[in-house]
Amino acid sequence: MTDNEREKEREGERQETAKLYYNRFSKVYDLLSPKAYYHKARFQAVKELRLTRGKTVLIVPVGTGQSIAYFQDYLENCGTVVGIDISRGMLDKAQKKIVQNKWNNVRLLNRDVARFDHSTVGEVLEINDFQGFDAVLCELGLSIFPEWQNVIDNLVSMLSQAGRIVIMDWYIEQPSLRGSLLKWIGKGEVNRPLWQYLETKVNDFRIDSSFNRGGVFVASGTRAG
Ligand SMILES: C[S@@+](CC[C@H](N)C(=O)[O-])C[C@H]1O[C@@H](n2cnc3c(N)ncnc32)[C@H](O)[C@@H]1O
Repeated sequence: MTDNEREKEREGERQETAKLYYNRFSKVYDLLSPKAYYHKARFQAVKELRLTRGKTVLIVPVGTGQSIAYFQDYLENCGTVVGIDISRGMLDKAQKKIVQNKWNNVRLLNRDVARFDHSTVGEVLEINDFQGFDAVLCELGLSIFPEWQNVIDNLVSMLSQAGRIVIMDWYIEQPSLRGSLLKWIGKGEVNRPLWQYLETKVNDFRIDSSFNRGGVFVASGTRAG
């Protein structure tokens, strides 16, 4: 087995672990991570997407769907919201919110984000000549995804011309009790300089790292070229 094949195998195992973990965690996710906890950051993240009624947007990973309501403030139940997540348990919770709120513009997909890219998106969504998403929100995911740089590349490539991308995530540079706790709960890494990579891929880059006592940032940009 080559190093590449071994790495791919380890990757598959890590994804399987994430799926099983989040299937269990889904039962208590909204209790342990209530909407109010990330309200300011999510509000700002969705505002930075500069949405208007009827746009086509992607939420990765959509989790239990806590951010969908923020999108509907702009989309008004029109356009299309696509939410991707690897965990069926998390998606079931999101689906409950969709039914309760009578949102009929949301489509949930049980997918590994690393296997969802520009070449497959049109086919998966059954849209001929797909022109890309007007906006992509990647929230609390890149600190978990092993291939996070590839995922950023994929997300940017799925944007329409002048489409907007926002990353909302944790960044704690120095080891700390809070950082260790977050790593343990989320099974991710809190010290990845995610926004630095985004900055090299987009125009009009902006960042605000003032959320959750300086631990959470919202970084945004517009598709270049
Ligand atoms: C910390 S939760 C964040 C959920 C949601 N974005 C939020 O803000 O509440 C991380 C999510 O990433 C999902 N996830 C982990 N690895 C994934 C992958 N490879 N593809 C898609 N989703 C993944 C988990 O199932 C989980 O729902």
